[in-house]
Formats: sequence, C-alpha cells, structure tokens
Amino acid sequence: MIVDKLGRRFRNLRVSLTAACNYACTYCVPDGKRLVPAKNEMPATDLLKAVKLLQQAAGIDKLRITGGEPLVTPKFDDFLLGVMQLPLEDVSLTTNGQLLGKKRAVIRESGIKRINVSLDTLNPMRFKQIARGGDLHTVLENIDAMLEDGVRLKINMVPLRTQNQADVLAMLDYCLERGIELRYIELMRMGHLATGNGFQADFLSMAALLDIISEKYEFARTDAPYDSTAARFQIPGAGVFGIIANESEPFCRTCTRLRLSSDGYLYGCLSNSRRHSMQALLDLPSYQSLPKLQNILMGALADKQLAAFQGETTVMKFIGG
Ligand code: 5AD
Repeated sequence: MIVDKLGRRFRNLRVSLTAACNYACTYCVPDGKRLVPAKNEMPATDLLKAVKLLQQAAGIDKLRITGGEPLVTPKFDDFLLGVMQLPLEDVSLTTNGQLLGKKRAVIRESGIKRINVSLDTLNPMRFKQIARGGDLHTVLENIDAMLEDGVRLKINMVPLRTQNQADVLAMLDYCLERGIELRYIELMRMGHLATGNGFQADFLSMAALLDIISEKYEFARTDAPYDSTAARFQIPGAGVFGIIANESEPFCRTCTRLRLSSDGYLYGCLSNSRRHSMQALLDLPSYQSLPKLQNILMGALADKQLAAFQGETTVMKFIGG
C-alpha cells in the first residue's frame, strides 16, 4: 500500500464517465457553452478494467460515479451494473438529477443506494440563470422518485452571493422535510474562478452560511468520518446538514481521493492539473501492470497539497467533484 508522510492513502475513487454535461452552470463554464465529451473517452469496459486494477494496486474501497454529467452517456448503464458487481464497500453517484427518471429502471436493477444530486436553487427562474440547461420541475420529480425507491439522497448546493444566496434557507427547509442531507459547497477557485474577480464576488463562507441558517435554526457541530470533506451540523429534532468548506476549513490533510477521468487519466488532487495516463496499462498482464501502476500512484499521491486547496484552472467538469 502507498502511504505519504501525512499518512494519506487512496481509498476513495471518483470515476468521471464523460466530460459532457447537459447544463452549463455559471461557476463551471464562463461562456455558457455546454461541455462536450473529451477526445478519447474510454468505453465502460476499459473504465471497469481501470477500476479493478486500482482496487488491487491502491486498495480502493469506495467509488463515486461522476462526470461531466454521468447520466448523459450511454455507457452509464454498463458501468453502473459492472461496478456494482465489484467487491466495494460503497458505490455512490453524483448527478444533476435531470435524467434520473429516465435511468430509474437501471438504478433499481443495480441496487445502488446513495445518490448526490447537485441542485443550487428551488426557484425556476434562478435555476435557468445558474444551470443554463435542464428544467427544475423534472429534477424535483426525479428526487421524489428516488426517495420513493428508497435511495439515500444528499443534495449539493453551491451558494453564490450574487445568484442564489436567497435560497440558502429554502433549500435547507426542503431537504429537512424530506430527510435529505443538504451539503453546501463553498465556492472553489476552479477554472475561470481561479483568476479574475468572479470568485470574490460570489464566495460565501461557512461563517456567512451559518449566520444565515441561525436566523431560523439552532444547530450544533456533530461528528463526521475522519476523511470526510464536510463539516456536519445537527439541528435537534429536524436533521443534519453539512458544509464542504474548502476555504474556511481545508481538508487536504485527510484527503483520500483519487480521480479517474473519462479519457483514462488519474488525478491525485483537484488543485493540481498533473495527470497520469492508465491507458497503456490496461492490456498488460497484471504482473506488469500492477508495479507500473504502483509507481504512477506514488506520483499521484505526491500531487496532493500539504494543507489547502490552492486554486486550479482544471475545471471540475472534466473530473467530477
Ligand atoms: N466550486 C464549488 N463547487 C463546484 N461544483 C462545480 N464547480 C464548483 C466550484 N467551482 C460542484 C457541483 C457539484 C459538485 C460535484 O461540485 O455543483 O455539485
């Protein structure tokens, strides 16, 4: 097993099935143009091969399916069904929720039990302004369908001062009513936000969020797993919410995440654009591929930051959250 001097190792793999997305969120793409697939995206069979190798070489025990938007690619079904057959402790999915209704049958068949839906507002007009694609009503219907099917849902919201600050409490009410854990994600300096004024204009800190929430709710900090990214808060008698406070409480010191992009590159850190190709390993016998992969993983682990996210022009879209 590969461990660094902070005791970090890779346990937690995020696989981006495609760079394509059916939204064009303001904080992700500056020009409003929807993202397209990467040039050499791997088929589900190769991505599954890569996952199996990573399980052996790195001891991956948790996997999250991401994108882009993972539900827009036809390979979603095969990948999901394949990955649910592997001996993993936990498999989850991050999606904008727009296509969950269409994928309901395969989601049921697969047995996946944890889904995070990215949703930044409950207001149809603001939804159009932020997501610049899709339709709020469909997402809300799909959320109800997943709850009916017994899926455990979390909702990710990126609070933005100039765009959806007014939704901070409304989103919490909505989630508490439905037993959904809401995670506010502090804006990160990714892509176009790594430079320019956009980040400063829209950033809402954990302290600012807690201030808004305290207008309506009492809450106390509660436990979170050691390698979790979220600070969690309990509202007595009502439920739990979390804040992923990249800026206010950086979590690099306990980060166990490794990312595989849809075109077969490993990323050791969201704050570092260095990448390591797995393509050449996939058709080698394991006595050759595993030692090579161990070397790559040492490099990827060294890409992690010591303390805090620094900002990076790599965009979340390619490699998921
Ligand atoms: N800062 C914070 N969160 C972001 N996401 C995408 N880009 C950013 C950013 N710059 C969120 C998405 C999704 C999750 C994977 O990451 O909204 O919920």
